[in-house]
Amino acid sequence: MPQPSKKCVVLIGYMCAGKTTVGKALAKKIGRTFYDLDWYIEERFHKKVPVIFAESGEEKFRDIERRMLHEAAEFENTVLSCGGGTPCFYDNIDYMNQVADTYYLKASTDTILQHLSISKGERPLLKGKSPEELKQFVDEQLEKRAAFYEKAHHIIDVNVLDSFDKIDQIVDTIIETGGLQGSEEASR
Ligand code: S3P
Repeated sequence: MPQPSKKCVVLIGYMCAGKTTVGKALAKKIGRTFYDLDWYIEERFHKKVPVIFAESGEEKFRDIERRMLHEAAEFENTVLSCGGGTPCFYDNIDYMNQVADTYYLKASTDTILQHLSISKGERPLLKGKSPEELKQFVDEQLEKRAAFYEKAHHIIDVNVLDSFDKIDQIVDTIIETGGLQGSEEASR
């Protein structure tokens, strides 16, 4: 019988698409360890991401992010949720596709704005914008970033993710799409 892949499952997509929420639930269901790249960076550098942005700027953050991606994406039997910008810098998306199984959680601007309105996380790139500016910024950035996101091995529509009871539905779609084996033990 073919052995299921142990490669890291990498989730990519725009800010507030639900990568961390879905990633945690997916890892639990298939019995893997969950990592979030932003949290991984924060633990290794003992600094919050917005502080790194404020103190060192975005360019420095992207360099750190790339280096930490090269550590975290190589762990086996894991699920890794990346930052919204991770696949869009350097050769990160090609690297991810090489070492991991990649899934783009695809959300529309409206879904992103709805998730953002209930999100507690601080996001330096979205801070201080009026609702109109925010909508325009997300629309434009999403269009630019789509070319990177769409290089993922699999694309998962997450626009149904309008309430917490839909998380399981998305997790099951990912498992089915990627042929990932669920662990009965882990999901109990
Ligand atoms: C960013 C997304 C953030 C974080 C940083 C930059 C981006 O992660 O990495 O603020 O460029 O889209 P989330 O997607 O988890 O919010």
